Amino acid sequence: MRRRRFLGVGAAVIGAGAVGAFGVPPAARLLAEARPGRLLTSEVPLPEPFRVPLPVPPVLAPVRSDATTDHYEIVQRVAGLEILPGLRTEAWTYGGTFPGPTMVARAGREVVVRHRNELPVPSVVHLHGGHTPADSDGYPVDLLLPAGSSADHAAHAMAGMTGMAGMAGMSGTSGTGTVGRTVVGERSYTYPGHQRAATLWYHDHRMGFTGPGIWRGLAGFHLIGDEEEDALPLPRGERDLPLMLADRAFASDGSFRYPSVDPGLTVPGVTDDYMNGVLGDVILVNGAPWPRVEVDRAHYRLRLLNASNTRIYRLELDPQPADGGALVQIGGDGGLLETPIRHDAVEIAPAERFDVVVDFSRYPPGTSVRLTNRFGSERTGEVLRFDVTSRPVTDDATVPERLCTLERLDPGAAVTTRTFGFRRSRNDGWTINNRPYEPGRVLAAPALGTTEIWRFFSDVHHPVHLHLDQFQVLSRNGGDPGPYDAGWKDTVDLRPSEGVEVLVRFTDYPGTYMLHCHNLEHEDMAMMADFVVE
Ligand code: C2O
Ligand code: CU
Ligand code: CU
Repeated sequence: MRRRRFLGVGAAVIGAGAVGAFGVPPAARLLAEARPGRLLTSEVPLPEPFRVPLPVPPVLAPVRSDATTDHYEIVQRVAGLEILPGLRTEAWTYGGTFPGPTMVARAGREVVVRHRNELPVPSVVHLHGGHTPADSDGYPVDLLLPAGSSADHAAHAMAGMTGMAGMAGMSGTSGTGTVGRTVVGERSYTYPGHQRAATLWYHDHRMGFTGPGIWRGLAGFHLIGDEEEDALPLPRGERDLPLMLADRAFASDGSFRYPSVDPGLTVPGVTDDYMNGVLGDVILVNGAPWPRVEVDRAHYRLRLLNASNTRIYRLELDPQPADGGALVQIGGDGGLLETPIRHDAVEIAPAERFDVVVDFSRYPPGTSVRLTNRFGSERTGEVLRFDVTSRPVTDDATVPERLCTLERLDPGAAVTTRTFGFRRSRNDGWTINNRPYEPGRVLAAPALGTTEIWRFFSDVHHPVHLHLDQFQVLSRNGGDPGPYDAGWKDTVDLRPSEGVEVLVRFTDYPGTYMLHCHNLEHEDMAMMADFVVE
């Protein structure tokens, strides 16, 4: 019964090509390896690789803490950064750096972040992977307008946006500087911290302009720790490295180059050529082009985050250590896996995180080990270089064979199955179930506390992301989950003409949340939907 209904919907939503996605794969899945995006080249000479040291973003200190809560403040502002040696790049930043400062939070403690917007544009802050009440989730039209803007500015800021008609709360002003859920100057976001240790990130989520916002620098790490993780002998301190991967392109004056259809950023979207996504020709790690880092002959934890708009990486160490299995995955988007997975390579789509441990004692002292991207070519095939030192070290870190006990969501407990087709439509750009995004249009209304099966279909490549709760991948193309689908996840990568089923339980917070493609050009060009937890 379920299958028949599903096939019917699938055929209508996606077209014949994907119908086989849950059964026998189409005989020739020609597009299976096609990766999205078009290369935007820099107008300046690219720097030599492996010259600049790897920066590690500063950890943000709370402005005050009490028994339950840590309070932070971040000023969003324009900053001139030297990203390419000798060139100044005007970035949009959290607190003056790119990446923004790393938030280090503790499970069970509440975090309140007060953001002040001194950018020239409205912003929205989203904690990606956060288990967050709706009013702090960064719904894309809950704008934080620049300090000093008037209500007129508010109306103006909204004027060019598509799909804005009838948006809740945009009519009328109040005496307190707010327009509906739009706020001028400052806004506090509350993260209750009812979630396990995980590598999260925060980023801009402004309606129609998330792509250019993140491209210009609005992204940072948010790490959550807990006792379960502390009890494990994993690498810590300087041997626990957050690595934010992001490709960018630069204009001749050093500014970030981006193919906005409207350089003034009042109309969302990119020029037609870049409709399928923007790829840069410079690979940044923590904001530095192809950096290098000295490592001891010891275990390191690498928290890999793909903060690129569109680019998918296949990460591999070169050379591989004898016997391979260099990248020992201990965690994914939603924290620790039950048992480690040894990979030779990790494929990471936009917004995904892979927490891996690398034992550099498997290399002779003096070895230069490149982190390469097998999906790139020439310069985009290189990412970062580790230079293994010969200094004597102590290292008591190991990766236990059992990391934690994970709750398995039970497919038998699912109260319903919903299907979401991610595809490009002839007239409406990028759509979910043939609908371009419109704030307030609800595509699903799951009941609080229930578990559902959500099935996603793709035409081309789409990394699908859910807000509010992490999910577990149940199947891929009718078979077992793939090698990169383990553990709790909030983003799952669909290759062309694929079908993926996930199990998700909607917990704790009612309200409006997002389901969207995390290819940021697709997202900005309407591949989003609201779901409401009731
Ligand atoms: Cu990382 Cu709704 O996004
Ligand atoms: Cu998110
Ligand atoms: Cu997409």
